[in-house]
Amino acid sequence: MKALLIFFVLMNLDKLLKPAHCAEIQDQVLSITPKTQEQVDILKNVSTQYETALWQPVSPHYIKEDTQVHLFVPANSSETVKDLLKRHAITHEVLLANPNELIEMQTRNDSTDPRSSSTFYERYHSLEDIYIWINRTQQDNPDTVKVILIGSSFEKRPLYVLKLSVNNRPNKKAMWIDCGIHAREWISPAFCLWFVQYSLSFYQSNKDITNILDNMDVYILPVLNPDGYHYTWTTNRMWRKNRSTNMSTKCIGVDLNRNFDANWCTEGASDQPCTEIYCGAFPESEPETQAVADFLRSHKDIVQIYFSIHSYSQMLLFPYSCTLEEAENHSELLEMVKEAAGQIHRYYRNIYKYGPGANTIYLAPGGSDDWAYKLGIKYSFTFELQDRGRYGFLLPPSHISDACNEALLAVKTIALKVVEKT
Ligand code: ARG
Ligand code: ZN
Repeated sequence: MKALLIFFVLMNLDKLLKPAHCAEIQDQVLSITPKTQEQVDILKNVSTQYETALWQPVSPHYIKEDTQVHLFVPANSSETVKDLLKRHAITHEVLLANPNELIEMQTRNDSTDPRSSSTFYERYHSLEDIYIWINRTQQDNPDTVKVILIGSSFEKRPLYVLKLSVNNRPNKKAMWIDCGIHAREWISPAFCLWFVQYSLSFYQSNKDITNILDNMDVYILPVLNPDGYHYTWTTNRMWRKNRSTNMSTKCIGVDLNRNFDANWCTEGASDQPCTEIYCGAFPESEPETQAVADFLRSHKDIVQIYFSIHSYSQMLLFPYSCTLEEAENHSELLEMVKEAAGQIHRYYRNIYKYGPGANTIYLAPGGSDDWAYKLGIKYSFTFELQDRGRYGFLLPPSHISDACNEALLAVKTIALKVVEKT
């Protein structure tokens, strides 16, 4: 008993010595709603001048009155930032008081923990583990799964696409899904893994996935931006862009979803390398963009549906994001996402907004969905998965299954509609 007590005291020594009220300042995520133009300007300034990471909106440019801003504030700039807000009478709420605990939770390797009941697919995985998973999935399913190397990243990591194909029907069409174009959106690669696992497990038992796979092949790119993803695991959890360097600047990274050739680098993107929405030196300047674009160009006659998976904010988007003009089959696309959102609401009681990107969020040129659409893939979508800002990019592993199941339902709903049409 005594030994146990001593053990407990030793284990909790740091907590016992450090009362809660004088706990160290921690990283936090703040939610701030500017009320006046002056407050908007201050916030824009804070998010660019101080070491912070803007979660929402994607760039300071979009900060506007009466709209929530989510700002990750590291401990070392916490005091300065809060002082500044206070001085200008800008109120804030703490959205996340413990992002570091959440990050720790997400990166913990609990696969060896016998108390853990979560499956492989209900956890986040390092890039290395995902490469191993790709290999194993192919080996375990040699008849259905092929691995295709479509190129490599700036830091020379391989870009692997999994091809799921259950039969050799002539003139078969295909669907494309890419995940992880933005590094910090961890639920996205988790979805690609989930989708593959679901397809392999429920082909023949779930009628919808059976119908889809009988009629089309699926190409899945689980991590479009491996360098960025790796960097979020090792160095900076909030990283968004790829990791390319350029002689002309010390800032690293291009926003790969601004680097495609669709009204490239017009309003909604930036030619400034230090911003989060840097469009790159020219369209397809990045090896990751080029690999995807080359693959889709050479498969454009068979790929009917394009999906790009992001987070967070719960939206089902379709072209255009690069212009306010309507897509040629706007009403058809609207009908599809409306039905998908309806299904999610019916089965999961969760709300997804839907519509063309530019009207639903903001102008964002150079995106992969618009580019694929202009290439001729008439069913092109960008999904923003969970959540709506409670955890943001730090969605806990316990939410992976719900987030993936509802996105899966949306993918199935849309794919079935396309299968029906052809
Ligand atoms: N939130 C994402 C971004 O900022 C997706 C935008 C919608 N699609 C697009 N093509 N820009 O990149
Ligand atoms: Zn994104």
